[in-house]
Amino acid sequence: MPPAETSAHIRAACRQDIPAIAECARTATSEAEEIGFGLPPEERTFPYEEKLSTVWTEPNKAGMEEVWIAEVGGHVVGYVTTEDRGSTLELVNIDVRQDQQGKGVGTALVRFVEAMASDAGKSAVTMGTSQSADGRPWKSLPWWQHLGYIVTGVEENAWTRRVGPGVKEIRMRKLLAQSSGG
Ligand SMILES: CC(C)(COP(=O)(O)OP(=O)(O)OC[C@H]1O[C@@H](n2cnc3c(N)ncnc32)[C@H](O)[C@@H]1OP(=O)(O)O)[C@@H](O)C(=O)NCCC(=O)NCCS
Repeated sequence: MPPAETSAHIRAACRQDIPAIAECARTATSEAEEIGFGLPPEERTFPYEEKLSTVWTEPNKAGMEEVWIAEVGGHVVGYVTTEDRGSTLELVNIDVRQDQQGKGVGTALVRFVEAMASDAGKSAVTMGTSQSADGRPWKSLPWWQHLGYIVTGVEENAWTRRVGPGVKEIRMRKLLAQSSGG
């Protein structure tokens, strides 16, 4: 496989980006493949411009999450959201438009989050992906492992219970190199 290359430019999102972010969220995965792994469409926020606008606060927050976007050629092709968890930074959600996947955009977004966490003195980036009730991990698990994330546990929580009975969250973490300044 050739190395992923991208000229993606990553920046904080703003309210004007909401329609493009919602489109990324709608087109990253199909509703069919989300069944048993993610919230049902009516309980999701990011795919819907109106819902996302309602929870948006300036400059780049949607609820508790900060939103960052990747642009290629001036078009929004992906986004990532983060939440401050004290000593760690949680990568909450990442979506790349399906027609732009496999070109290095997701990797660039994750690297951006890791750099931001490192600059803020965090010890690790944490995230979770789902495991269906019959024990199958969400398709992106090997991608996270490829990026250096290791599984730290498997749990049921408020989010998994909303997805469905028996669904679990695979918790993952990547430790960051400590800066020499501290
Ligand atoms: C998961 C997702 C964000 C990845 O973004 P992307 O832009 O498609 O990924 P990239 O193009 O950056 O990945 C390329 C790299 O990953 C590697 N890779 C791709 N698929 C892989 C897989 N299944 N297993 C291991 N490595 C993989 C490639 O070899 C490449 O590595 P390299 O940079 O060392 O050459 C994107 O596919 C997506 O939006 N998926 C749907 C939503 C989703 O699953 N979000 C995550 C929820 S936990």
